Amino acid sequence: MSIISIILICILLCLVCYAVYQRFCYFKNRSIPCPPLPSIFLGHLPILWSVKSHAEQLRQWTQQYGSVYGLFEGIRPMYVTSDVAFIEEIFVKQFHRFPIRRLTLLNRSIGHKLSNVFSAGLLSIWRRQRRILTPTFTGAKMRRLLPTVDTCVNLFMDKLNTVPSGSIFNIYELYKRLTMDVICRCAFGIDTDVQNDMENQNIYMKKVAEMFAKNHELTLLPRMYRVTSHTVFGGICVLLFKLKRLITTNESKLQANVWLLEHMNEFVQQRFNKTETHKPTSDLLQLMMNAVHSDKDMLTPTELLSNVFVVLAAGFETTSTALAYCTYCLALHQDIQEKLYQELVEHWCPDETNTYDIISSKLTFMDLFVREVLRMYPPVPQVVHRQCTENTHVAGHDIRKGTLIQIDVLSVHYDQELWGPEPVNEFHPERHLQKRHPLAFLPFGAGPRTCIGMRFALMEVKLCLAQLISTYRILPSSFEDYKLNITEQLSMTPDSVCIKVEKRITSSSH
Ligand code: HEM
Repeated sequence: MSIISIILICILLCLVCYAVYQRFCYFKNRSIPCPPLPSIFLGHLPILWSVKSHAEQLRQWTQQYGSVYGLFEGIRPMYVTSDVAFIEEIFVKQFHRFPIRRLTLLNRSIGHKLSNVFSAGLLSIWRRQRRILTPTFTGAKMRRLLPTVDTCVNLFMDKLNTVPSGSIFNIYELYKRLTMDVICRCAFGIDTDVQNDMENQNIYMKKVAEMFAKNHELTLLPRMYRVTSHTVFGGICVLLFKLKRLITTNESKLQANVWLLEHMNEFVQQRFNKTETHKPTSDLLQLMMNAVHSDKDMLTPTELLSNVFVVLAAGFETTSTALAYCTYCLALHQDIQEKLYQELVEHWCPDETNTYDIISSKLTFMDLFVREVLRMYPPVPQVVHRQCTENTHVAGHDIRKGTLIQIDVLSVHYDQELWGPEPVNEFHPERHLQKRHPLAFLPFGAGPRTCIGMRFALMEVKLCLAQLISTYRILPSSFEDYKLNITEQLSMTPDSVCIKVEKRITSSSH
């Protein structure tokens, strides 16, 4: 090698080092605090990947560094904030400059053609899909879906009835089956019988369980992508991922989410063929298909498939986890459970026509209760983030295109100024009677890209709780030191929620 080539390589290396150094000065140049970097190439990711809970780690850093601080994902800067004015700017006022989430390796590999309303990385695609799908989740459509949810909840109650009185069991397992049953029936109109399938024979249940048991974003290639996504090496990871997919001929070795996506196609195709000869069914897939038909050429069959998949993924674990936390709070706060029971004694006389109205307008204390549970235990805080797509200024900070903004939801939800005067660590449903800052409550995110399935989830949670509390008294497995062990992969989930149930003696049960 000639001396000139050596000098050129040295200059190139120096330039790369200087560029990386400049990157790491991003927050220093803006006088924004930043925890010490554990690694030059990985940024703060080694810490975030090794802790038990990502959200708890952010909260700890907020206590140390304040309501706006910086982290690095590889060399990409990421703001972490719990300042509601800052959040409002990003999620609402300047939404057009922060319209997307971080693109995962899977999203980038499958490309825009297969993007869905959750993963859409282009504002135009997201806007079109969201506009088409929004009518699927209105109150009127929820009313139509309620009888199906009710059938599943009745099955859940039958299962509960087989639990011997006084024995301790993990209700979270039953909730997972319930929400899987609900989403399969409501989204695709299929009866998986998953609540009776205690041996886990159902392949869809297996795959969905697998998808949530292991966060594929934490396997080697997606990790490498997260570190390098902001550089040319991100493209190399995408190529490697596609190559891996091509050479994986063994179906069982396919990543569960890729497997599911491919197999959902069968359902959609079957339904497309079926509607030509059969009366349309009333489920989410049908509602989405109606939307496709009424909005010609605006949602392609591939996009429809991708959205069906996302409904399955988004609607399963979030809702079962919310139910699990609600049950834990019921067991822990017997006085509040009694108050909920009294409200049900007064208003819970459901028949075929009025159930949705009772749930949505009569059970006011139930609403406060569920809100308080979601304030203290937001199931998916990591999802609440945005990526900047245009240089801008937010609350005096100059933010560059490509930068991520992660919301520290726990710090917002436990902010005494936003949620006082009652101590924020106390479970106090009535605090939601008072008007709060519009960005202080974030379990479903905020702004135009907030959770599209919120109405559906709340209907399911409240219907299940109403049936549960009016039939049983929920007791903790032990009155001493009754705590949850919470860990976080994609969502913040308890390992288990162990309770005992006691049938209520009512006048009708004599
Ligand atoms: C208690 C249950 C649920 C919780 C806590 C929850 C939470 C969330 C959160 C935090 C987001 C991100 C919002 C943002 O970035 O601002 C989200 C988005 C989303 N959720 Fe949910 N969710 C729940 C249930 C559901 C259900 C049942 C469905 C479907 C039937 C669903 C479908 C979606 C979709 C499609 C998005 C993406 C919306 C978009 O990007 O436009 N979610 N959810």
